[in-house]
Amino acid sequence: MRWALGAMLFCLCTQVVATSEQQAMRVVSDAMVAPLSDVTGSAEQGEQIFAARDAGHCVLCHQVSGLDAPFQGNIGPALGGIGDRLSPAQIRLRIADASLLNAQTIMPSYYRTEGLHRVDERYRGRTALSGVQIEHLVAYLAQLQSQNQ
Ligand code: HEC
Repeated sequence: MRWALGAMLFCLCTQVVATSEQQAMRVVSDAMVAPLSDVTGSAEQGEQIFAARDAGHCVLCHQVSGLDAPFQGNIGPALGGIGDRLSPAQIRLRIADASLLNAQTIMPSYYRTEGLHRVDERYRGRTALSGVQIEHLVAYLAQLQSQNQ
């Protein structure tokens, strides 16, 4: 498992994925170092996007203890304390395009327009979340430390 992950990360090293409407995504190892927006992320707004059905709706699959959301799923890993384990750049990559790390993942790629199938006409060429929304989510998740849980 460990060597497989290592080999996968090695292949991922320094690839640049870009489409017309998107900011270039510079992927280094398993992280995306450059922010996807000039706007500095706000943890408060990130928390709302995380829970909102009409935005990220991340709670469909993830739970964060202490978060005020009526239903929280467990299809994905719990994200409480995620800021201890992953850097903001690593969190950014996982939100933008988790399939770069695991081609079989069921987590949607929130900042990708290429290679998506059966996309409604209205959404073609658009990313599921904007760069600003992703920066808010990164700010929110990065400050989730396990000692605050
Ligand atoms: C359909 C279910 C689903 C949704 C919706 C979803 N995720 Fe995930 N997510 C997963 C799964 C499953 C994983 C485990 C990694 C994998 O599958 O490769 C994961 C992994 C992650 C990780 C890495 C966790 C770790 O421990 O390494 C982060 C961070 C994350 N998701 C954030 C988000 C955010 C933010 C949103 C909303 C914008 C979101 N996810 C929406 C299913 C989902």
